[in-house]
Formats: sequence, structure tokens, C-alpha cells
Amino acid sequence: MTSPKAPHVDREQWSGQLGFLLAAIGSAVGLGNIWRFPGVAYENGGGAFLIPYLTALLTAGIPVLLLDYALGHRYRGSAPATFRRLGRRFEALGWFQVAIAFIIATYYTVIVVWAIRYVGFSVTEAWGSDPGTFLMEDLLGYTGPGFSTDFVGGIFWPMLVLWVVTLLILALGVQGGLERANKVFLPMLVVLFMILVVRALFLEGAAEGLNAFFTPNWAALANPQVWIAAYSQIFFSLSVAFGIMLTYSSYLRRRANLVPTSYVAAFANSSFEILAGIGVFATLGFMAAQQGVGVGQVENLTGVSLSFVTFPQIISLMPGGPIFGLLFFTSLTLAGFTSLISILQVISAAFQEKFNLTRVQAAIYIGGLCALISLALYSTTSSLALLDTADKYINEVGVVTSAIVMCLLVTYGARKLPELQAHLNAVSTARLGLWWRVLVGVVVPVVLLWMLVSTVLGLFEQPYSGYPWSFVNGVGWGVVGASVVLSVVFALIPWRRPVDDFTPEPLPAAAGTPLRAGTTEPEANR
Ligand code: ALA
Repeated sequence: MTSPKAPHVDREQWSGQLGFLLAAIGSAVGLGNIWRFPGVAYENGGGAFLIPYLTALLTAGIPVLLLDYALGHRYRGSAPATFRRLGRRFEALGWFQVAIAFIIATYYTVIVVWAIRYVGFSVTEAWGSDPGTFLMEDLLGYTGPGFSTDFVGGIFWPMLVLWVVTLLILALGVQGGLERANKVFLPMLVVLFMILVVRALFLEGAAEGLNAFFTPNWAALANPQVWIAAYSQIFFSLSVAFGIMLTYSSYLRRRANLVPTSYVAAFANSSFEILAGIGVFATLGFMAAQQGVGVGQVENLTGVSLSFVTFPQIISLMPGGPIFGLLFFTSLTLAGFTSLISILQVISAAFQEKFNLTRVQAAIYIGGLCALISLALYSTTSSLALLDTADKYINEVGVVTSAIVMCLLVTYGARKLPELQAHLNAVSTARLGLWWRVLVGVVVPVVLLWMLVSTVLGLFEQPYSGYPWSFVNGVGWGVVGASVVLSVVFALIPWRRPVDDFTPEPLPAAAGTPLRAGTTEPEANR
């Protein structure tokens, strides 16, 4: 028997820069763009929200995206392998990110399933005259916050199929599975969504909808919660700080133009997000016009209700509604699916490397476990409150904590920021200045720490969403606490592959001499 190889040896690779870029955009553009952004923007100042949003993008989103890229590309491993290579005691942070991805993957799937079901429902407008009751009672059989063991067949079976398809793609690998799926689904998503937005713009009342979306409420900028909402949105939406971009960039060849790629991915994601805001609000303008009210008086403008209650209502009012419904819910499905596979790859890569599994074994054992937990928790009659609470805490506490610890650990614990900057500059055509180090080492941790403290204080003030305290604390702090405990436990387990057998690429003596010219990497890996 041959002895196991270190995780960077014979590593899977994207076919090239374009394959990576498509996958990175496919991961970023997800449920967060279509169902989360429009409502968050509207609730937090409308047009004025673009100021904190763009500030968050430039001061935290892009800098942390670059940090993820640099870590994965330089240390050529999953999150646990990469952080271990920065310093043995840092491995737990990698597992913390894997745990976050695991928790998000379990509930992300069920939202994609709802979207898939609504593609079918659109054809006959099956929700009838009361989409709210249809969603809560007929589809979800929702019984309120708690843990139920009553499975909902209409969710369970499609979810099982979705898990099988997703794990199959994972088993097919980076190029044969993930890259191929993104190459098909991302262009499809863009085309379908463009048609939807153009159609929305020609609806009666669209202009009023856009006015409501873009009219700035400047006073909102004085509210710290608005800034917190902007930073959280950017982190979730760009898929940064929980291992995704780190894992994806570890499959890039040495010849990778990382800095410009990060700008393209970030701006593509934000453009899609703003496009979604335009499409959604033009459509809401139509509804307001039909009801003879202002857009502000339309109910259910955020999250689950926006997509699965308000949109069905509008579709029923609209000439050609079923086609609009097909476009909207198929877009939501595609956006969610390409993000879901990226979230799962974080987990698969980590287990393949630590436990010396093949990607097929990782898909079966680890993906299978994730699928079981996901089905057990989220195909039951209590799924809604569970996913709402888990989503809130894992993003606003888990992902933000992970980002803070990552920045502090890289900057002050491992003192690798200058090296990572030199790496990014050596492989890229565009150069990063000192500003990047200031943002990652000082601005991002300070801003996020303030955000985290304020969020946590808010969470203790009143129970999230009015759920019982015992439920909120059990589920919310439960997912955060479990992630911390598991990250320590997994970091203590010995590696089945020689992870420490690794030396990073020598950097050119003078930063700025492109690595591509002087690389020492074997030809096969370039
Ligand atoms: N970035 C993904 C989203 O926006 C996770 O949904």
C-alpha cells in the first residue's frame, strides 16, 4: 500500500482562471442576493443603504475576499489544513469555518427545495388566493418553534433527491462536478434573471417601486443597526470568512491572477444584488399599484415572506403570471444550488484531507451525515423557526467571529500579512498596497468586533423574532457553541495525511517579480 500524500500533492484543479471565476461568482450569487438583499436594503434606508453597503464592500468584503484567496492559494489546502500550516494551534479556526459551512448547508438545502416546489406551483398558481396560509399550513404544516418529528412528505422527498444530486456533483470533483455545474447553471441564471428584470420594468407601477427602493432615507445612516446589516449582508453574500473562497482558491493553478479576479467576482456579485433589488421592487410597485396603496404599505417585504408569500400574490395578479413565477423561482433555485455546492465543498475538502478520504467517500460519509441532519431537522413541521434562528446566529455571530479571529490570527498570531500581500502581488497583474494590510489588520477586526458586541447585546435584550427564550437560546447559542466545541475536538484528532509536509512557494526576492516567471512548482501543478 502506498503511504498517503500531503494534501497539496496531486491536488484537484480548476480547468483555468475562467472556471474558477464562474464558480466563485456562482458561489457568491445565491439566496442572499435574491431573497435577502432587496428586503434588507429596503428596511435599512432604501437608496441610502447603498452607502453603508458599498462601504462594507470596499472596506471589508473585498479585503477579506482577498485574504481568503491568498490563504487558500498560498497554503494549498482546505480551511483546517491551511490554518494549521500557518501554525499548528490555529487549526481549530479551520474547523470552526467547516462547522459554520455544515450548519448553513443543512438549512440552505431546504430553502432551495421550497424554490423548486414553487417552480411547479407557479404553473397552476397552486397557492390560490391565500399564499400565506398555503406556505405555512399546506406546504410546511408549520407548528411553531420547537422540535418536531413530524415529517412533511412534500418537503422530505424533494429534499432527499436534491441531496442525492448535490452529493453526486460533489463526488464528481472540482472540475468534473462543481465547475461543470457552474458553467451550465450560472449563464442560465443570468439569462433567466435578466428576462425577469426586463419584464418587471415594464409592469404598471414599476417606476413607483423603484422610487421606493432608491429614495434615500438619510436618517437611517445614523443608526448603527443599518451599518451592521450592511456588513452582515456583504459577508454572507460574498461567501467570505467561512472557508468557501479559501477552499476554491486552493484549487487554482499557480498562474492565477488573484487580485483582479477578486474585483471582478465582488463587483459581479454586487451588480447582481442591485439588479435583484431593481427587479423585486419594480414588481412590488406593480402590486402596490394594483392595490392602490404605496409600496411601503405592501406587507411582507423581507426574507421568506417576500419570496414565498408576496411574490406568489403578485404572480396571481399579473398577466402571464405563471411564466414570471417560473422565471423567478427557477432563478432562485439556480442561484441557491451553485452556492450550496460551494458550501459543501468546504466540508468535503476538509474531511478528505484530514481523514485521507477520496472525494467519493467524503460525499457518501460526510455529505450523507449532513443530509441526514438536514432532513431530520428541516423537513419537519418545525423547520421554519429552526432555520430562521440558526441562520441568524450562525451568520451574525458565527461568521462575524470567524472573520475577526481570522484577521487577528493572520495579522498578529502568525504575522503572515506581509507574506500574503507579497504572494498576491507576485501572482497578480494588479498590486495591493499597504491599504490592504491596514484594512485586514486594523479596520475589519475593529468594525466587526463593534458589530459583534452590538449584535450579541441585542440578542440578549429580547428573544429573536419573538420566539420563546428557551428555543432561541437552545438553537441559536446551540449552533454557535456546537461549532466551537467541534472545532476544538476535530483539531485534536491526528491527521491521516502528512499535512505538515509542506513548504510554501518561495516568494520572489523583490516583491513584484511575478511568481509566474520564477516559480519552482512542478510543471504539472502550474
Ligand atoms: N453567498 C451565498 C448567498 O448569497 C451564500 O446566498
